[in-house]
Amino acid sequence: MSNYHIKDFEEYFQVYRKSVRNPESFWEEIAEEHFLWRKKWDKVLSWDFSKPEVKWFEGAELNITENCIDRHLATRGDKTAIIFEPNDPKDPAEYISYSELSNRVNKLANVLKAKGIKKGDRVCIYLPMIPELAISLLACARIGAIHSVVFAGFSSTAIATRINDSECKMVITSDGSYRGNKTINLKEIVDEGVDQCPCVESVLVVKRINAAINMKEGRDEWLQPLLDVASADCEAEVMNAEDPLFILYTSGSTGSPKGMLHTTAGYMVYTAFTFKNAFQYREDEVYWCSADIGWITGHSYIVYGPLANGATTLMFEGVPNYPDWSRFWEVIEKHQVNQFYTAPTAIRALAKEKLDYVEKHDLSSLKVLGSVGEPINEEAWHWYNDNIGKKKSPIIDTWWQTETGGILISPIPYVTPTKPTYATLPMPGIQPALMDENGNEIKGNQVDGRLCIKFPWPSMARTIWGNHQRYKDTYFSAFDNKYFTGDGALRDEVGYYRITGRVDDVVIVSGHNLGTAPIEDAINEHPAVAESAIVGFPHDIKGNALYGFVILKEVGEGRDRDNLSNEINQTITEHIGPIAKLDKIQFVVGLPKTRSGKIMRRILRKIASKDFSNFGDISTLLNPDVVQKIQDGAL
Ligand code: WT7
Repeated sequence: MSNYHIKDFEEYFQVYRKSVRNPESFWEEIAEEHFLWRKKWDKVLSWDFSKPEVKWFEGAELNITENCIDRHLATRGDKTAIIFEPNDPKDPAEYISYSELSNRVNKLANVLKAKGIKKGDRVCIYLPMIPELAISLLACARIGAIHSVVFAGFSSTAIATRINDSECKMVITSDGSYRGNKTINLKEIVDEGVDQCPCVESVLVVKRINAAINMKEGRDEWLQPLLDVASADCEAEVMNAEDPLFILYTSGSTGSPKGMLHTTAGYMVYTAFTFKNAFQYREDEVYWCSADIGWITGHSYIVYGPLANGATTLMFEGVPNYPDWSRFWEVIEKHQVNQFYTAPTAIRALAKEKLDYVEKHDLSSLKVLGSVGEPINEEAWHWYNDNIGKKKSPIIDTWWQTETGGILISPIPYVTPTKPTYATLPMPGIQPALMDENGNEIKGNQVDGRLCIKFPWPSMARTIWGNHQRYKDTYFSAFDNKYFTGDGALRDEVGYYRITGRVDDVVIVSGHNLGTAPIEDAINEHPAVAESAIVGFPHDIKGNALYGFVILKEVGEGRDRDNLSNEINQTITEHIGPIAKLDKIQFVVGLPKTRSGKIMRRILRKIASKDFSNFGDISTLLNPDVVQKIQDGAL
C-alpha cells in the first residue's frame, strides 16, 4: 500500500522520484493494489507522441462501475455514496447509499439496453445537477456506452453541434431545472436542438420541475415508468483498458468544439489516485465539489475519482446566492463537509458579500479547500484562507484541463507548503517542462515559459473524437515530443509552478474555457455585423470578462447602439449560451490586422484593459491608423 496515500513532504519527493524514474512500475503497483480487474494488463504503457498514440494497461479488462460501485458493496453498502442537496433548502437532502446507487445505476443501464443502446454507442446527457446526472454517466459506463455530457446551460445550437459531431443515438434530459428562484425549460431547448440531429433515435426525460412539455411520439419517453419495471441487476460490460469511457467537449481557439476522448483504465487509476492525494480524503469524510458535472471537474472529482475511493460525494443543485449568499456555508455546516472544492470566480463573488453570511455558520468541519479553473488571485486566495479556512485548512490550487483528465499540478494538503497563487508541484507521474519560443526546454529555477508535459500520464485524452489530426496539431505540434498545454507558467526559486494564463486565443471566463472563434462566429450571425473580434479583459468577479470589437455593416449604421448590443448578446446566448455574453461591446471602424490577415489580439487586449501605454511594434500592421481610432473610441 506504499504509494497510494502520501503523508509527508519527504514521502512526496520519494514517491515523485520513483514515479519519474520508473513510471511503469509506479503506476503498475497502484493499479495492482487498488482496483478490481477482470483481467490484468499485458503491458503497462506504450507511447509515441509523434503519432500521437498512448496506451495504458493494454490488454487489461475491467468495468469502471465495478470499481466505483460493486466492489464497495460488501464493506460500504450502507455508506452514503452521494449526498444530494437540492436547490431549495426547504426540500430534504437525499442520501444515496452505495447499494441504492448500485440499484439505480443498474436499472437505468437496463433501460438503456432495452432502448437499443450498445457498447460503443454515444449517449448525450443534458441534465441539471440532480442524482440522475451522476447515475446516467455510470449507467452508460456500465454497458460500455460512451457518454457525452453537455452542460445544461448550453443553447440548443450548442447541443446540436455536439450531438451531431459524435452522432449520439440517445439524449437523456429533464423537463427542466431549478436555478435559484428561476426554472429553466430544458426540454424545450433540447427539442430545438434535436430537431437538427437525425442521429438521435430516443430522448429519455427525467421529471424534475413538473413542467408541461411536448413529448414527441416515438422518440420521447418519461424515464421513471421505465425504471419502475427495470431489473436492478445488470451484468457489467467487460471493457478493454483503452475502450472509450466518455467524450467531453471543450472549446479551442479556432473551429468547432473539440470532443476530447477519455478511455477507461488510465482515467480511472489517475482520477482515483489524485482524488485520494490532492484532497487527502479519508474514510467517512464528506467531500464537496461545487462544479457542475457538465465540466471535467465534475466528471473526475464529483463522480469517478470520489466513487472509486468509496467516498461520500456531495452534489449541489443550487447556486451560491439563493436564497441568499450564505448558501454554500450553510451546506458545509449542514453536511459537515471536510473537503470543499470550488472556483476562483465563486470565491470572488462570495468575498464581495458581507462576512455575516460566513460568520453565522460553523465551518469547523473543513480540512481542505480547493480551487480550480483559472489562476486564483492573491486577494481571493487570502479571503478564502482567512475567512473560510480560518488559516487552518490548506488551499490547494489545482491546475489541470479537460484534456488532462485529472489534476496535474497541485499542492498535497498538509504535505506541500502552500504559496498564494502557486499551483506548486507536479503530482507523481507528471513531468512538466517550460519551453522557450524556439522550442528549447528552459532548465533551472526562476524562469518562465510555455508549459508542456514531457511524459504520458494515465488520464490524458487519447484523441479528439473524429479528428485525430486536429489532436496532433493542437497539442503535439508546437513542441517536439511534448504535450503542449496552451498555458504559460513560471517556476520560482524553489521549483514551484505558477500558471500565468493562456498563451493562445482561448479566454477563460468564470473558469470556463471559451474559444474566441466560436463566439465571434456567433456575433457575425447578427445581420448588422460585418466582422468582430473578442478578447478577455480583467473583471473583479469573473477574473476575465469578454470585450467585443464589432464592425457594422451598412444596415447597422445609424441604429441605436444599446439595442444592437443587446441583440448581439441575444445572438450569442442563442448560439452558445449566456456564459459567453460580452460585458462590453465597442463598435469600431476596423480591426488591427497583420499582413496575413490575422487579427492582432494583443493590441485589442491592451485597449480592452485600458492600457494604452505601449502597443509595441505596430508597423507591420496592414492598417496601423486603426489602432488610434479604436483607442479614441474606448476612452
Ligand atoms: C484551462 C483549462 C480543469 C478543470 C477546469 C477547467 C485554466 C485551470 C487552473 C489553475 C490557473 C487554471 C488553464 C487551463 N486553469 N485550472 N488552478 N490555475 N489556471 O478546465 O475548461 O479545460 O480549462 O483552465 O488555463 O489550461 P478547462
